[in-house]
Amino acid sequence: MGGDSSKLLPALKPFCEKLRSVVENGSEISIITHLDADGITSGSIIGTALARLGAKCSVRTVSDMTPSVIERMKAEDHEFYIITDLGGGMAANFRKALGDRWVVIDHHQIPEEEILTDDAGQVLNAWKYGIDGGIEVPAGGMAYMVASTLDRKNRDLSPVAVVSAVGDRQDQGDKKSFLGLNKEILETAKTLGLVNVDLDIMLTGRETRPLHEALAFTSFPYIDGLTWNRDSCYTILKNAGIKLKDNGRWRVPAEFSQEEKSAILDAVAKFIVTSSKTSATVIDDLIGYVYTLAGEDKRSQLRDAREFSTLLNACGRIGKSGVGIAICMGDRNAMLTAGEEISTEYRTTLRNYVSTIFSEKWRVTDDGKVAFVNGDGLVAEDMLGAVSSLLSGSPTLAGRLVFVRSLSKGGTYKFSSRKGLGCTSPANLGLVMRHCAESVKGTGGGHSAAAGCRIPSAALDPFISCLRSAVNEAKFATAS
Ligand code: C5P
Ligand code: C5P
Repeated sequence: MGGDSSKLLPALKPFCEKLRSVVENGSEISIITHLDADGITSGSIIGTALARLGAKCSVRTVSDMTPSVIERMKAEDHEFYIITDLGGGMAANFRKALGDRWVVIDHHQIPEEEILTDDAGQVLNAWKYGIDGGIEVPAGGMAYMVASTLDRKNRDLSPVAVVSAVGDRQDQGDKKSFLGLNKEILETAKTLGLVNVDLDIMLTGRETRPLHEALAFTSFPYIDGLTWNRDSCYTILKNAGIKLKDNGRWRVPAEFSQEEKSAILDAVAKFIVTSSKTSATVIDDLIGYVYTLAGEDKRSQLRDAREFSTLLNACGRIGKSGVGIAICMGDRNAMLTAGEEISTEYRTTLRNYVSTIFSEKWRVTDDGKVAFVNGDGLVAEDMLGAVSSLLSGSPTLAGRLVFVRSLSKGGTYKFSSRKGLGCTSPANLGLVMRHCAESVKGTGGGHSAAAGCRIPSAALDPFISCLRSAVNEAKFATAS
């Protein structure tokens, strides 16, 4: 993949002209987006850009794009729809339901035939322009490209696009750097002085948590014995002579000197040596580029881009997308009143899910290559993606393709899949999920390393058989 914006730029102009004319006609616009961090950022970037043009628009999230969501859109009958982070392969369905009153901004891989048969330029999907939407740009970056083409002033939204890229774990270059279009957008944010980039220890709560808590909250990488274990984190750091408090106040990770950071890493490495064999990998995973939003207050959850994206994921996954959208659109009161509470609820819920999964052994079927996790009656479906992301970072499931499922009230199963740490399977999970879901009249898709689907509950057995064989088929492997 070429990865840069050169092929995308010519498509942006007519796309933006269309949006501009919709706004000028006074149409009332409904923006529908995915409920994760990338969905919330992309919907909010477009929402902000259109509001600045004087548009009448609202932003709303859904957990996935299904025929029933499209039916609802048809029934609600808004004058125009913008769908972000979803629906890249569903042009025909949108056209049937909505005529030409819609556009899609997306980054999910869709089959070649669908790229070619597209529409009247209504789908702005990264893959159409030689950009790998799995690692080179998320929907937030695509939305940013639209916003900054609509008006250069919208380049002030580039930090939100940086948040979307880390939220979608597209920091896949060396030491968690960015690739392709993400890198271009980051350069803009740096040039405008809005984002600073440093090589550092990547701890969750970099700007907000006492060091030992930040280490305990860090689940990428998952460190057996330390992750979610505040007491053992405190003990190893204290024993290593790290000064955790200053003038009676806990120090946050962003405040430690380089020398102190080396001592912190030594303490973690020593602990891992005694508990598992993956010390070098874990330490390597802990170090990477950190992206700081220079305009946000120190010690705010919005200052570190990863912390910001976790907050947005939390908002979406626990049913408070509106708060995430308000924050991305600049409302700092929403942040102050609800931010901390939402993060706490999200982390507690996730921790309970994962500890139940590992303690109720029947929930995990693992042959060393593929692990199926049964979250029925436990995992709320909007939390599935967060659970599978977390499990895939756990040493217990390292190297596997991880599939997590939950039975929803509507008589469907929702699945979420990820590649576990160090997984070498060439399977493209997005293509596998899409194929197997469609073979049982469900819908699915995603990226090579992260995908999901929804299937009728009666089709569980044939669907699982399909998955077991499709993950070994060359036609569903990633090309590279
Ligand atoms: O819908 P969307 O593309 O935005 O979602 C991708 C999801 O997959 C995100 O939740 C992201 O964290 C996850 N992901 C992952 N590992 C990757 C790439 C993405 O867990 N390598
Ligand atoms: O829900 P989860 O985070 O596991 O989703 C992973 C990826 O799979 C996302 O990019 C999501 O948009 C995609 N997905 C999909 N169709 C579904 C469910 C998820 O394309 N029915």
